[in-house]
Amino acid sequence: MRIALVTGASSGIGQSAAVQLARRGTGVILTYGANKAGAQDTVSAIEAAGGTAVALPLDLGEAGAFPAFREAVTAALREQWGRDSFDVLVNNAGFAESALFAETTEELFDRLHRVLFKGPYFLTQTLLPLLADHGAIINIGSNSALNSGMEPGYSAYASMKGALTVLSRYLAKELSPRGIRVNSISPGATRTRLGDNAFERFPEVVPMIAARTALGRVGEPDDIGMMIAVLASEEGRWLTAQDLEIAGGYNL
Ligand SMILES: NC(=O)c1ccc[n+]([C@@H]2O[C@H](COP(=O)([O-])OP(=O)(O)OC[C@H]3O[C@@H](n4cnc5c(N)ncnc54)[C@H](OP(=O)(O)O)[C@@H]3O)[C@@H](O)[C@H]2O)c1
Repeated sequence: MRIALVTGASSGIGQSAAVQLARRGTGVILTYGANKAGAQDTVSAIEAAGGTAVALPLDLGEAGAFPAFREAVTAALREQWGRDSFDVLVNNAGFAESALFAETTEELFDRLHRVLFKGPYFLTQTLLPLLADHGAIINIGSNSALNSGMEPGYSAYASMKGALTVLSRYLAKELSPRGIRVNSISPGATRTRLGDNAFERFPEVVPMIAARTALGRVGEPDDIGMMIAVLASEEGRWLTAQDLEIAGGYNL
């Protein structure tokens, strides 16, 4: 059985990716930050559909704790699946906070850097010995790092996401001798809990986003989660070093 590790699967895109991967027969290790109940919901949804999943806590902002997390992953792999490696890493966990460039504090910059770039960088490095040859890594960027999704206020957030996309290409090059494929996805606006549940707090943005989207609606978690599952699967076997904007034609 193929095994995937999805960070930040207690809600939103990560939750969808975990369920979609499981639906295709993949065992899932999923992580959560503060929302343990959400992670349990994800595990329950996977188990109800006949799949297997384990939820582990992970603070992506604490790189010093990654070796201990690797031990927890090793134990989960052995106990749940009798394996000592996994096949797919989805670096999805993240948060969004905006501030105009002139008002961006060093504290906000560092927090975004720790979670959105340094976290996935060193988590991937820490987990590399457990990632099987011919596996796949999928990094979740953002179309705020592309011309199509630029909005004032996201200079720091989008810069970290852009850095993650560049890292994906470097990993694709360096890990290709092991047959590991590395791609990134740049989602457009997607209805999740991102930004302290901004979609629920400001429902008026939904029609505005839909009006700017060629396919005429706002993105839903499954729009991204299904693409993550496809990239991770046999169907994605010839794709590497690519960034896919999944946004329904935003600002097309
Ligand atoms: N929604 C969008 O419009 C959009 C667009 C482009 C890109 N993205 C990216 O998509 C990814 C998933 O976000 P989402 O939209 O699905 O939002 P979400 O529903 O808020 O999910 C974010 C996930 O990341 C986890 N997380 C946040 N900070 C963390 C930390 N410091 N350590 C460990 N886990 C952490 C959360 O865990 P807990 O809640 O358990 O703490 C949650 O599981 C993010 O990287 C985001 O930047 C989203």
